[in-house]
Amino acid sequence: MKLIQVRDYEEMSKKAADIVISYVKANPNAVLGLATGSTPTGLYKNLIEDHRKNGTSYKSVRTFNLDEYIGLDGNHPQSYRYFMDEHLFNHIDILKENTSVLNGKSENPEKECERYEQMIREAGGIHIQILGIGRNGHIAFNEPGTPFTSRTHIVKLAESTRQANSRFFQSLDEVPTHSITMGIETIMESREILLLASGSSKAEPIRKLFTEPISESFPASILRKHPNVIVIADQEALKDTDPEVIKDYLMKA
Ligand code: PGA
Repeated sequence: MKLIQVRDYEEMSKKAADIVISYVKANPNAVLGLATGSTPTGLYKNLIEDHRKNGTSYKSVRTFNLDEYIGLDGNHPQSYRYFMDEHLFNHIDILKENTSVLNGKSENPEKECERYEQMIREAGGIHIQILGIGRNGHIAFNEPGTPFTSRTHIVKLAESTRQANSRFFQSLDEVPTHSITMGIETIMESREILLLASGSSKAEPIRKLFTEPISESFPASILRKHPNVIVIADQEALKDTDPEVIKDYLMKA
């Protein structure tokens, strides 16, 4: 695991975008793993801006999103398909048929999990996966206790996750209780992972990411076993992590 220490959200978003843009320029057939939430929206803004200014093309890029709520279809404003269309896909030249988000309205969610795994395999696997980190250490919707061997699966959301995400809904009651998510093993098969963290609400999970024993009770800890993870974290997210610990991971920004 390597760490790029940045000042703030803007710098985190810019650094992440630089990495993705260079990769896409060098690999027009890139397979990107994408995430939703507050963390990656700045990255997506930068990708859109660069696409407009410099014409970086996504015509042959494929994408797979990490997760989706069960029960929301792609037209629901809180669905992750809708989020991705709004925050990225509608503003770049990517072909919609090359963008995959799990179907939260599938009649057979188990089958949907298998279908997704197969599509990722057929695409040759994910080259760069963008990740956020939950306050309880979850990655995608893999909550504490999820087996490290999990593949794409259905999960019951932790109450803390529903609470955290209720800010996007009218009320907590409207937040779905289940979701469908890439598994930890699926995520770990990505060739490269970019984990982004900004703000003081991420200070505890980031401290634990660097210091907790690797255990299913803190899902993100498994990332320390991945050969190619870059964490991009800002000062607030790093404020509780011992500088002595960080030293060993630092990359020049
Ligand atoms: P956030 O979510 O980007 O909205 O903070 C991250 C996560 O819970 O994985």
